[in-house]
Amino acid sequence: LTEFFTLSNGVQIHQLGFGTWQIPDGADTYDSVTTALKVGYRHIDTARAYGNEASVGRAVRDSGIPRDQIFITTKLPAEVKDYDQAHATFEESSSLLDLGPVDLYLIHAPWPWSEPGSDHRVGNVAVWKAMEELHEAGRIRSIGVSNFEVADLEALTSATRIRPHVNQIRWFIGNTQDETTAWCRANDILVEGYSPLATGAILGNPQVKQIADKYGRTVAQVSIRYLLEKGVLPLPKSTTPSRIAENADVDFTLEADDVAFLDGLTDTAN
Ligand code: A2P
Repeated sequence: LTEFFTLSNGVQIHQLGFGTWQIPDGADTYDSVTTALKVGYRHIDTARAYGNEASVGRAVRDSGIPRDQIFITTKLPAEVKDYDQAHATFEESSSLLDLGPVDLYLIHAPWPWSEPGSDHRVGNVAVWKAMEELHEAGRIRSIGVSNFEVADLEALTSATRIRPHVNQIRWFIGNTQDETTAWCRANDILVEGYSPLATGAILGNPQVKQIADKYGRTVAQVSIRYLLEKGVLPLPKSTTPSRIAENADVDFTLEADDVAFLDGLTDTAN
């Protein structure tokens, strides 16, 4: 929990983040983030679209932990593909969080959720310009994208100045997004993995369990550790205090042949 990845702009990011997708605003988010900070997480991932930024901000402020020791990510809604609207939407997130500069701001997806696969190349460049400005003004320390595939990344980077520092994608054993991950690595873009437990579906997998038993660990811990072995930043989510702690207790190493075994698994989300 005390280790970091270094982004291409030199910013240090804690190797394990706490995901807050699908945690309702209010007490659920406040209590989960408070627990996460108590057990040692120092990196919290939220989004305007999760609707829980205000509770994340309140939990961080109330924690008493110095602000500069906590890394906060939020995201521009996938529906926003307009320069002025991007500026206005960032201001909303900024005031809901009320934590000063945001550590990382991501375009939530290359297309609105209601139109998957639609072409928003021009809109992505427009909102990226707004994000570059906010970055240069010191309001955002790092900027990135989420759910971008290679074609989306190529379209954005060929038309803009600052390369994304991060791409956050759905990433777990059996869903390792090899093409996108390799492209990001070659271009010095850190890959963050959301749903490292396949939104819970991996927990019943007998093959991962076999590896977990060998190390005296849980399936969740092996699944999270696997991302770290691959240089991918895991963002596990839980609202259960014991699991929040369990998921952060991943200070062990998987042997190379066990990583290779896990590399070969498919259909892990079923
Ligand atoms: P809950 O929040 O009720 O604790 P992902 O991070 O891949 O999105 O997975 C999140 C899901 O996995 C949630 O349903 C969460 O349940 C569950 N979960 C998270 N950590 C663990 C764990 N250590 N053991 C079992 N289930 C877990």
